[in-house]
Amino acid sequence: MTQLTITAPDDWHVHLRDGDFLSETVAATARCFRRAIVMPNLVPPVQTAEQALEYRQRILAAVPNDRDFDPLITLYLSNDTTPERIRQASEAGIVAAKLYPAGATTNSDAAVKGIEALYDVFQQMSESGMLLLIHGEVTDSHIDIFDREKAFIDQHLAPIHQRFPDLKIVFEHITTADATDFVLGASDSMAATITPQHLLLNRNDLLVGGIRPHNYCLPVLKRNTHQNRLRDVVAAGETRFFLGTDSAPHTKHTKESDCGCAGCYSAWSAIELYAHVFEDLDALDKLEGFASFYGPDFYGLARNTDTITLHKQEWTIPSEIKLANQDSIVPFFAGQRLAWQLAE
Ligand code: NCD
Ligand code: ZN
Repeated sequence: MTQLTITAPDDWHVHLRDGDFLSETVAATARCFRRAIVMPNLVPPVQTAEQALEYRQRILAAVPNDRDFDPLITLYLSNDTTPERIRQASEAGIVAAKLYPAGATTNSDAAVKGIEALYDVFQQMSESGMLLLIHGEVTDSHIDIFDREKAFIDQHLAPIHQRFPDLKIVFEHITTADATDFVLGASDSMAATITPQHLLLNRNDLLVGGIRPHNYCLPVLKRNTHQNRLRDVVAAGETRFFLGTDSAPHTKHTKESDCGCAGCYSAWSAIELYAHVFEDLDALDKLEGFASFYGPDFYGLARNTDTITLHKQEWTIPSEIKLANQDSIVPFFAGQRLAWQLAE
């Protein structure tokens, strides 16, 4: 096969940031995705419908003229979130809200302490049909970083799912066999996104032969047995697992630092990275479902009606992307070769 045409895909988990970053990140994501679920972890975070609609306008202003792109802004849940705010956001067309346990990841300091305190908010989300997107890691210092996803399932996710059976939950950027099995065993109201880095890499790629800061993201890469379980589930075409890049730009100097930031910037090569994985798994026929069908189906949105085409044509991911302000970003998989390329 030398050419692959699929229904246009969407990215169900992306960080576009704000301000000067938008001209870079919005063009990158709008290159092949028609819609994206845009994460709200700005500083300060997007917490009200009004802030979300303003942020959406700033993103739309950065969409290149020849692109058709619909950013779906999410609300950042905190201990200040009220059921009333959820009602207003839902009426304003906001489809989802994101739960970050406080301290779990980049810009999550303002997030939720004591998840049970949000149960009346979850009740309202369930009634309004708003999706709950979860960064599923506990943050207790005594829990090993490699065990934090599993602990979150046991301590929080399973109880929330049981208490709110109709609340649609997306377990974001899953990394473990435990998370995979939990979603497979849960009801139809539970789904998960999977990133390119967690399909392509395992913790050896982070730590063997030297520390590789550009492979550092949260949740952190796990051992290969977990990686293989994620690969198996996408190769099987399981419909409650879909595309969410978690593309998250950080400048080169903030990643190559004595306390480097978490996040991989994959937007310029996202669909190609996934195609690379699915080809490797001999499952290219499953790419379209994962990238273009299962996400909108779970969100209750229409599938896109146009298509994109990938050509079998080797290319190399650039080693650096220059920003307008002279800073630069090292993209995920920099300098590595990919077999498929999006036809522009
Ligand atoms: C994300 C970021 O940089 O905003 N970082 C990451 O490692 N994935 C936040 C997140 O999704 O956890
Ligand atoms: Zn993220």
